[in-house]
Amino acid sequence: MMKNETEAPTLARILNFGSLNLDQVYRVDAFVQPGETKSSLSLATHCGGKGLNQSIAAARAGAEVWHAGLIGCDGDMLYEKLNDSGVNCSLLERSSGVSGHAIIQVDNHGQNCILLYGGTNQGLTEAAIDRALAAFGSEGLVLVQNETNLVGTIIEKAHQKGLQVAINASPMDEKILSYPLELVDWLVVNEIEGAAIAGCEFEVDILPKLKQRYPKMNVLLTLGKRGAICARGEEQAKIGIYSVKVVDTTAAGDTFLGYFLTEALDHKSLGDALSLATAASSLCVQVMGASDSVPARQQVERAIAESSLGKLGEWGGWR
Ligand code: RIB
Repeated sequence: MMKNETEAPTLARILNFGSLNLDQVYRVDAFVQPGETKSSLSLATHCGGKGLNQSIAAARAGAEVWHAGLIGCDGDMLYEKLNDSGVNCSLLERSSGVSGHAIIQVDNHGQNCILLYGGTNQGLTEAAIDRALAAFGSEGLVLVQNETNLVGTIIEKAHQKGLQVAINASPMDEKILSYPLELVDWLVVNEIEGAAIAGCEFEVDILPKLKQRYPKMNVLLTLGKRGAICARGEEQAKIGIYSVKVVDTTAAGDTFLGYFLTEALDHKSLGDALSLATAASSLCVQVMGASDSVPARQQVERAIAESSLGKLGEWGGWR
């Protein structure tokens, strides 16, 4: 169990209808270009998927996390990773298909590019969604990403049950705009996803436009090296980043989301939630792999207490 067992349980209760991927991670000196064939420096298989990474991050932050999803005949490793991380896996179902997977190149700067194959992540059924919602009950938050099918249906059904809903609108595609976003309590986006959903050209307009279109929606907008900004009701907070050595950015956003949501659901101030999430993702980028790089809460708190991440930079502003 990676859960923080020494502290009082948080109020965060999350049902994640989340993607699960087997990540094939290839180290390269630079990304493959069109028409090019090149040799990789190494290959490793890690458990990933935005859903799985986010469940593990929230669980390591201290939330009670239930993961609903579908794995294939090759998915034992995914189940075990979640289970060992303290996530409730009773709603994880199996099919005879192949699990989702991702082909990830990581370059010398720790940047990645990711090719997804949906596999069983695209096989969710309404019946399975109903079963999961019935088992979870009506207290807490339902989390989705855009790596599974039936995202809009999950949002509708969760809202009907009186649950809060959070969506990480990643990877961005045209389907996102067809989801009932007016029912969403938390939208988590980067600047590209945010601008596409808000329908605006300039970053500075993202939050006001979203507020106008979805007045009740809270927004966490991540801006890469410039930090993040969050709007909850009339409250806003921003944060910069720590300058740390980057080995692999995979799952840094998922770590940020899992830690942030856990703290926000636990009624922490936005500033405190952003601080913990930033420290957690700064630890994450220093380790190779997706879910394997999500730090435990004690590690994050120690890094903050001992200032081992250096000085927190200023929020980087709009571009
Ligand atoms: O956010 C990182 C994740 O995106 C990887 O683990 C990969 O599986 C893709 O879903």
